Amino acid sequence: MLSRQPDVTPPPTGAPLVRPALAGDLDVIGRIAYLTGYFGESASRYFPDERLFRHLWVNPYYLVPQQVSVRFVADVPGETLGYIVGVTDQVAYERALRFTLLRQVLPNLLRGRYRALPGCVPYLTRISLFPTPHAPRGAYPAHLHLNLLPEARGLGLGRALLTAFVDELRARGVPGVQLSTTAENEAALALYAKAGFEVLAERALPVWTPWLGRPATHVLMGLKL
Ligand SMILES: CC(C)(COP(=O)(O)OP(=O)(O)OC[C@H]1O[C@@H](n2cnc3c(N)ncnc32)[C@H](O)[C@@H]1OP(=O)(O)O)[C@@H](O)C(=O)NCCC(=O)NCCS
Repeated sequence: MLSRQPDVTPPPTGAPLVRPALAGDLDVIGRIAYLTGYFGESASRYFPDERLFRHLWVNPYYLVPQQVSVRFVADVPGETLGYIVGVTDQVAYERALRFTLLRQVLPNLLRGRYRALPGCVPYLTRISLFPTPHAPRGAYPAHLHLNLLPEARGLGLGRALLTAFVDELRARGVPGVQLSTTAENEAALALYAKAGFEVLAERALPVWTPWLGRPATHVLMGLKL
């Protein structure tokens, strides 16, 4: 008789370590970002082109000047389980994003390298039609993204990555950090609230309606440092 295979990946073994992300971590951060980009599940559901996803939403964090970039990963020997990436300065981030669009996205687009682009158009259209709220960049110049692989959740790694990130911002004298999430991300909301983040704005938007089946409440949170 065949033994039943477990249908979930077992939790990682060994003590996880939070460390600054290096140049060589870009690929695994991009992979995890894509695998978790739909409320903790794969972004393939609404954004079938992984290459374009990475170029738009991960690479800019590696193109900002080093003094603006804040990046950590959590790993066990041989495997990276999650990351937190962000910037200390929104203006520098937007400059890096424009650079990515011009020097990376446009050439790839012209060469037809985003094979699954048509399937991404609905989402790209919706985020430009329904922009999410942002906090004043003077008071909250930093922002962040935090994601863990499913098997690494609930083990304290999210808190450890967020603590490392916030400590680094304090050490650099940054006055505040903002982030954007949704009411769908219950664990994230609880983690950020426990870390002292306050809700700055909440807005129900139809960005995710085609995939979620209903509007999602977008939550803007901020922490003064
Ligand atoms: C959100 C996320 C980063 C939290 O990291 P984590 O390692 O799972 O959380 P931790 O184990 O560090 O727990 C820290 C706090 O988060 C909250 N939390 C964690 N898991 C939770 C869950 N399943 N339900 C509700 N709250 C939860 C708790 O308040 C917890 O504090 P406590 O242990 O004192 O109760 C992680 O679950 C994740 O990557 N989820 C999917 C992607 C995502 O939502 N990213 C954030 C996008 S804004």
